[in-house]
Amino acid sequence: MKSLEKNITIFENEFKSAIQSAEMFDDLEKVRVSFLGRKGKITELMSQMKALPIEDKRKMGPKLNLIRKNSEQSYEDKKRQLIQKQRDLEILKKQQFDVTAYKPETLQGSLHVITKLTEQIENIFISMGYQIADGPELETAHYNFDALNIPDDHPSRDTRDTFWLETPGLLMRTETSAIQIHELEKQGVPLALIGPGKVYRNEATDASHAFIFRQVEGLIVDKDISMGNLLATVKVVLQKLFEKQDLEIRVRSAYFPFVEPGIEFDFCCPFCKSGCSTCKQTGWIELGGAGLVHPNVLKHCKIDPKVYSGFAFGFGVERLAMIKYGINDIRLFHSGSIDFLRQF
Ligand code: FA5
Repeated sequence: MKSLEKNITIFENEFKSAIQSAEMFDDLEKVRVSFLGRKGKITELMSQMKALPIEDKRKMGPKLNLIRKNSEQSYEDKKRQLIQKQRDLEILKKQQFDVTAYKPETLQGSLHVITKLTEQIENIFISMGYQIADGPELETAHYNFDALNIPDDHPSRDTRDTFWLETPGLLMRTETSAIQIHELEKQGVPLALIGPGKVYRNEATDASHAFIFRQVEGLIVDKDISMGNLLATVKVVLQKLFEKQDLEIRVRSAYFPFVEPGIEFDFCCPFCKSGCSTCKQTGWIELGGAGLVHPNVLKHCKIDPKVYSGFAFGFGVERLAMIKYGINDIRLFHSGSIDFLRQF
């Protein structure tokens, strides 16, 4: 009986301190389970009574019942106390709610301006019946050069321009024109597509040159495609993109091994009147190259150049963005500056 009485004292002390330190409902529930639950300490004390002689049982039984009753009562009191505390807190919160308080602005992510512009370009071409094509950024010399009629001794094969991989014959594509070959081989003709994507060039950066930038390639191959179709298409697309009818654009002849004849489109520099660092003192910003698909390119893709002809173009997407949004340094697009990007 002595040891039971000792255990009862321990129980009472522990229970009292556990109830006092319970600050939350979760704590209180743990106290209830551990002390008053079916497998709790009070049940353990009850079972210790079984071993006592009958007189001791008569004495200890009512005592233990009273302890259980009082403990349950303490538990209920504490529960009521916590409920009240919770209500008081809520009232206090409402009283302290300041409708004029500053709410920190939540920053919302958005697509990058170059991605948005690419989507606009895609939508214009989709509305004209073109499909969107994709191609690998890691290319073979075959697709990036050979099939595009770029001879072995062409300067763009030089390591100054091309990021070659250590594996011979592999490189990061230098232009999206490689997409033309993949799609002509895959789909044959007639075909009308644009292929937007990243290109890589091992060259120094400045206000109008990046070493990773985006191009959008265009290709149409069908019967009777002419230079007139190319000029009309580019004009309509640029008018839609810039939401302007009269654009200050010039066309001049240019050499690209995969077109014949080849031309280049320049946009009148919007940042100066007589020359600046963005246009390299020329007054013009180069937008892209174009021309009629070279017969050798068609032949490589097993297309008869006597029956089919086509035009192709490749525009710099950042350059289009510079002109559309009046940004005079291409490096800003890749700077990762949130302040710069949020204006779009
Ligand atoms: C080409 O890449 C050709 N593939 C374009 C082409 C396609 C011609 C189809 C004929 C037929 P070029 O190297 O000039 O051409 O690049 C095309 C455009 O990409 C340039 O006019 C310019 O707008 C953009 N560009 C070129 N180099 C850079 C650079 N370092 N940084 C940013 N934009 C560039």
